[in-house]
Formats: sequence, C-alpha cells, structure tokens
Amino acid sequence: MDLIWLVLGYLAGSCPTGYLAAKLVRGEDIRRHGSGNIGATNVGRLMGKPWAIAVAILDMAKGGLVVGAAWAIGVRDPWILSLAGAAGVLGHNYPLWLGFKGGKGVATTFGVLFFLDWFNPWPALLGGAIWYGVMKATRYVSVASLVSLFSAAGLFFLFRAPAPYGITALALALLSTWRHRANLARLAAGTESRVGGGRS
Ligand code: G3P
Repeated sequence: MDLIWLVLGYLAGSCPTGYLAAKLVRGEDIRRHGSGNIGATNVGRLMGKPWAIAVAILDMAKGGLVVGAAWAIGVRDPWILSLAGAAGVLGHNYPLWLGFKGGKGVATTFGVLFFLDWFNPWPALLGGAIWYGVMKATRYVSVASLVSLFSAAGLFFLFRAPAPYGITALALALLSTWRHRANLARLAAGTESRVGGGRS
C-alpha cells in the first residue's frame, strides 16, 4: 500500500512547471530556448529572475510535499520516503506529460532532501547555501548544482542520517550528473553560459 507514494511522487514530479510557466505566460516552448531545459535556470533566461525563483520553488515543492505528506500521515519507513522522493525526481526528469523528456532534477531533489529527514534539514539547507556560494563564485549554475547535490549527499552521511537518505541523495546526485552531460561537455569546451551573461 505504501507503494502508492511512489506513484503519487512520480505524478507530482511529472508536472512540468517550467514548461507550463513559459507556455501559459509567454506562449513559448521553453525547450526551444537557451539550454532547452525545462528547469528554473532556463526559465530565468527566457522570463527573468522572478519567474526562475517561482519555478524553482514550485519544483522543490512538487518533490518535497509528497514526501512531507507521507510523513505527516504516518509513513516512517526511510526507504518508502526515499523512494517516493526519488520517484518525484524521476517524474521531473522523465515526465509522463512531455514524452518522458524533462529536466535535470536539481530543485526537485533539494525539495525532496529537505523533507526526507524531518529532524535533520541541515544537509538540504547547507547544500542550498553551497549552491549559492558556488553559483556566486563561478556564475555557472550547472557547477553549483552538481557541487551542491554531492555536498548534500555527503552531509547526510556526515550527520549519520538513516542510510536510505544518504544513498538516495547520492543516487540522485549521480542521476543529475548524467542529466547535466551536455552542460559538462559545454564546460569542457568553454561554451557553458554564465549567470549574467558571458562564457568561460
Ligand atoms: O538546474 C539545472 C541547472 O544546473 C542547469 O540548467 O539550463 O543551464 O542547463 P541549464
């Protein structure tokens, strides 16, 4: 019965908020702009910072709230909570509604990590701070995203959180690395775009 949370997680994660924002507000297909990603960073390129922040919050919420709801009604099995969260990220990355071609899962992963271990929000919060610091230092969102995801995973182990949480955080960081492979190729070629304009 707990498996219903995996289905709910996937369906919630599958809601393509960035795609919908661009389509409904601008009448544009975000996949034809910038990096082609449906995430907050690319929405920001097309629609500006307020929309990037709005989409990031919605993408965090769609992953985190299903895990939070499961916890709130009494689910305590760390594996069920972890798999419900991971299903949300899979939904974002491989959405039912967009032919299974979605985003890179950064904001959704952070939303999930924040709600996974209710008495220990520090891996997600510190990971968010690391994201901000690396983004400011390098002006590469992709670098900030990957460094912060792996940092958050490491912090779950450092804080001795239940093993499923650290394992899930690490698996989601690896999945996001795979989803960032075009960014990594652009970084290697010196053509990745920086926040505020310009390349490497
Ligand atoms: O969260 C995705 C971000 O790390 C990279 O986005 O649009 O530059 O590929 P983008």
